[in-house]
Amino acid sequence: DEHNVLTVTVLGCTGDLAKKKTYPALFALFLHEHMPPRTVVLGYARSPMTDESLRDKIRPALKGPKDKVETFLASCFFQQGEYGSDDPEENAESDPPVFGALGDRVAALEDSRGGGFRVTGHRIFYLALPPSVYPPVCANIKRACMSPTGWTRIVVEKPFGKDLQSSEELSAGISKLFTESQLYRIDHYLGKELTQNLVVMRFANRFLAPLWNRDNIANVQILFKEPFGTQGRGGYFDQYGIIRDIIQNHLLQLLCLVAMEKPCSLSPDDIRDEKLKVLRCIEPVSTDNVALGQYTNGPGGEAYLDDATVPAGSKAPTFALCVLYVGNERWDGVPFIIKAGKALNEHKCEIRVQLKDVPGDLFAEQKVRGRQARNEFVVRLQPDPAIYMKMTVKEPGLGMELAQSELELLYTQKYESTPIPEAYERLILDCINGDQQHFVRRDELVAAWKIFTPLLKYIDAGGMNPELYPYGSRGPVNADKLREKTGHVLNLTAKDITWAVD
Ligand code: BG6
Repeated sequence: DEHNVLTVTVLGCTGDLAKKKTYPALFALFLHEHMPPRTVVLGYARSPMTDESLRDKIRPALKGPKDKVETFLASCFFQQGEYGSDDPEENAESDPPVFGALGDRVAALEDSRGGGFRVTGHRIFYLALPPSVYPPVCANIKRACMSPTGWTRIVVEKPFGKDLQSSEELSAGISKLFTESQLYRIDHYLGKELTQNLVVMRFANRFLAPLWNRDNIANVQILFKEPFGTQGRGGYFDQYGIIRDIIQNHLLQLLCLVAMEKPCSLSPDDIRDEKLKVLRCIEPVSTDNVALGQYTNGPGGEAYLDDATVPAGSKAPTFALCVLYVGNERWDGVPFIIKAGKALNEHKCEIRVQLKDVPGDLFAEQKVRGRQARNEFVVRLQPDPAIYMKMTVKEPGLGMELAQSELELLYTQKYESTPIPEAYERLILDCINGDQQHFVRRDELVAAWKIFTPLLKYIDAGGMNPELYPYGSRGPVNADKLREKTGHVLNLTAKDITWAVD
């Protein structure tokens, strides 16, 4: 509508997240003409900067034609200010009041874009900040920056606490100020192309539906591997560890989409209701179902403990494999093997659904590498997005040998000319459109923390020591042993050796 103005205020605009993700995503939306016409981006930070110096700082992170970059930057502004204290009165009475100037600036930008008309100002506040300042920042937005004419939405990102209790304290504080419909909790894995395809794949294909249960599926693996270590983020990472950094949020969200029942409709709450039911059917992880690792010196680089920002002698896991069970009628007894690690041998995020053996095996004599090969349905989120099915075929030729092959859909081949949007781009657009489907609801967060809190407390109290694994390796040996115990079968083919070992 021509009398609407959108302001996106990026709080913490000088930080890493803002520079690497938020601004590039906003720019991509602008470049692809998804941004509403009268949009302004206002950066906020404590350090002294000007509109120009902020533009200079973010310019190198924006990829696209120069004129477009400059047009976008011309609607980026900067406002300096404090974040305030936890005491609301202190904020209101301080001179000048915290966020007072920010509220005024947003209003002034709305006016200036309105071209003399009375405008409806819609406001997004994107908190690219450490969660320790969420409470004062939220309180100050509520006091000084709410739109008097349009909607106001708040975007926050993990870590949402360190355990159930701290997460609920944070949520309780924020929920006093904003309704759930104003809050957008980002889990950027929900914004990835192949994550978004899961619902379509599962519920728009007749051939998958009858197989998708405990009668046919032996196990599900959800894997995340990075070939680099903490890269100077060790100080931050060390307070959290891999389970809080990757598993409790990103990979558990993927699990929900793999395991959930068909929602009543595609409305965000119907989908999130189904995800929540999955989480509520998962018992807290037992320590017997966990293998931890920490990287040490190896072919890929130096030990985690050699990162100068990591406290000496830290026992923080940089790798974890956890086996979860969804105790409902569809999934009872099926292991969901979740594995995540840093400083491993490759870069990969995949969902691998392994089917059971074929009963009454006709080909018992013609095994593939020593046993019947299993079908596996694989969704590779990254790198190189793909969906493929591993199937057994006759090895071409005069013999009657069996081989494993693939039915595959490689996105870069099939959709060559369609660029795949970045997760943050899509999620910010959803926020602009008021669509909360791909954002985490408070009750999901509670249920997710319940699954991991007892384990995390046990680990934090020194109950489990991580096994050391060399930087650049496949990870700790105990993780493979634990996976084997679940009945998982490693289905190696010649091709697998190079690209699908896990
Ligand atoms: C972040 C984690 O949430 O996700 C990082 O904090 C991790 O440790 C990153 O590297 C991975 O995201 P992506 O999109 O690069 O797979």
